[in-house]
Amino acid sequence: MTMPTVELHLHLEGTLEPELIYALAERNGIDLPYDGIEDLRSRYSFTGLQSFLDLYYANMVVLRTEEDFADLTRAYLDRARRAGVRHAEVFLDIQAHTARGVPAAVALGGVTGVLATSEADHGITSGLIITFLRHLPAEDARTALEEVLALGFPVLGVGLCSSEVGPAAPFKDTFDLAHARGLHRVAHAGEEGPAANVREVLDVLGVERVDHGIRALEDDALVDRLVAERVPLTLCPLSNLRLQVVDSLADYPLVGMLERGLVVTVNSDDPAYFGGYVDDNVRELTRLLGLTPDQLATLARNGVEAAFVDDARRAELT
Ligand code: HPA
Ligand code: ZN
Repeated sequence: MTMPTVELHLHLEGTLEPELIYALAERNGIDLPYDGIEDLRSRYSFTGLQSFLDLYYANMVVLRTEEDFADLTRAYLDRARRAGVRHAEVFLDIQAHTARGVPAAVALGGVTGVLATSEADHGITSGLIITFLRHLPAEDARTALEEVLALGFPVLGVGLCSSEVGPAAPFKDTFDLAHARGLHRVAHAGEEGPAANVREVLDVLGVERVDHGIRALEDDALVDRLVAERVPLTLCPLSNLRLQVVDSLADYPLVGMLERGLVVTVNSDDPAYFGGYVDDNVRELTRLLGLTPDQLATLARNGVEAAFVDDARRAELT
């Protein structure tokens, strides 16, 4: 069975397991507003994207030092290696840290220091995508990007995430600047928001991949375009289930999407919160949908096609 080996939709802060949250809180002398690890875990039950985001942002309070960000990144890579991942493009919500008074250089230093040796230490090539928060003013994203560029840490691309509210168009100048500096562009769209949001990030932000994009299925002409242009969609099944974007995984529309020729990939999004890493996502879908070896091979190939890697690495991953 050929399992996907590329992960393209992963929020590093969404890999904060309850045990690590408690360990970092203790190291940093932070009092958490929970009655222990089990109490915290029991709160991982969400009614939608916003109810998840509230806990996700709150738990970031434990990330203070460069070492914290390094430990977070290392823990993800350790788990991803066990999942069979050989290439990962990971998101970091830089504004969620600078807004709390953590300097961008601290977060970026901790994450990129570990990513720099991910191939040697974990057998995983990697890249960092800076994700801007859509619920904040677009000028904040622009400022964040300028700071990231000025600091000079290695960055692969930019993205857009958080609550899918309001237009993406105000972020155009930030994405244009990123493009001019040679960065790749992706954006969350069509998760809770409508298919029109997918069109907007393609047309206005010029994204090369769409994160989630599952609601593109509500617009046939858009699906035709995504197929024709081979725009990858980074699907996150367990996330969609836990955030009630879909009612059940048993009728997750993956097979239909593959049959229509959409370049879909399977990813974990925020695995600590949604009950599984990328291998768990693939295993659940395989169990419930009866994915065939051919379909699994197509998912693996799609991941390699959708990755921002050079030809040499693409050939190795194939
Ligand atoms: N959607 C939007 N923003 C996010 C998500 C998500 O699933 N996870 C972390 N930030
Ligand atoms: Zn996401």
